[in-house]
Amino acid sequence: MSFDSAALVNFATMTESDIIFKLSGLRRTYTVGSEQVHALDGVDLTIQDREFIAVVGTSGSGKSTLMHVLGFMDSPTAGRMEFESKDVTGINGADRADLRASRIGFVFQSFNLLPRLSVVDNVLLPLTYSRSAVSNKRELGMAALERVGMAHRSSHTPNQLSGGERQRVAIARALINQPRLILADEPTGNLDTKNRGLIMELFASLLEEGITLAIVTHDEEVAAYANRRIRMEDGKVVEDSKS
Ligand SMILES: Nc1ncnc2c1ncn2[C@@H]1O[C@H](COP(=O)(O)OP(=O)(O)O)[C@@H](O)[C@H]1O
Ligand SMILES: [Mg+2]
Repeated sequence: MSFDSAALVNFATMTESDIIFKLSGLRRTYTVGSEQVHALDGVDLTIQDREFIAVVGTSGSGKSTLMHVLGFMDSPTAGRMEFESKDVTGINGADRADLRASRIGFVFQSFNLLPRLSVVDNVLLPLTYSRSAVSNKRELGMAALERVGMAHRSSHTPNQLSGGERQRVAIARALINQPRLILADEPTGNLDTKNRGLIMELFASLLEEGITLAIVTHDEEVAAYANRRIRMEDGKVVEDSKS
């Protein structure tokens, strides 16, 4: 009798705990003067461990708003949002800040590195905001830089690096708190083709290490790295397909 233990383990571990986010009827409405803008207009979405999601859609379709809400940088105005099986729809600012600092990594199109800090100090920044005390900070920072191939530039400042190198440092910063999920909003938007490829290979290696990724992109080649594609239109998810 053949016995596929790997399949059994996978089956056994496919429980609620594999679900990172569950959004139901989620809305984020902005009021501008007398007008209401529905940046998110009833989003139903489940994000599971080890997914690599490409979020696509035209400008203004709500992609960044979705990233900000998932990253606890912005709050929904209606609907329900569960994180790790807990209702986090209306959590307070301190809990929100704590989750933002400790559970999720961010990567932005414009890198968002602080120019006066060294590369390693930039990488360590999220630890400043998280509640847990860390004694071996520098070692952690160097380990994160190793993972992105930038340890040799740890004492440089960001302006001494190329765009692709800055984005690798930004990814090291996103990794410092050992996040379960990394959210990236057009992370390759400012990069040339070669660096775009390097950054996507790096993301693919993080996926292999077990990190879940959600990446906003305009670029079909970048989207091709993902195993799930979500298309937004007018604040709604109009396509959600796995490959
Ligand atoms: N702070 C804000 N105030 C008012 N409207 C906003 C704000 N942020 C985003 N929006 C609006 O919400 C919609 C979605 O924006 P966004 O999520 O940035 O889209 P995308 O990232 O897909 O380009 C757009 O119509 C945008 O103008
Ligand atoms: Mg955007």
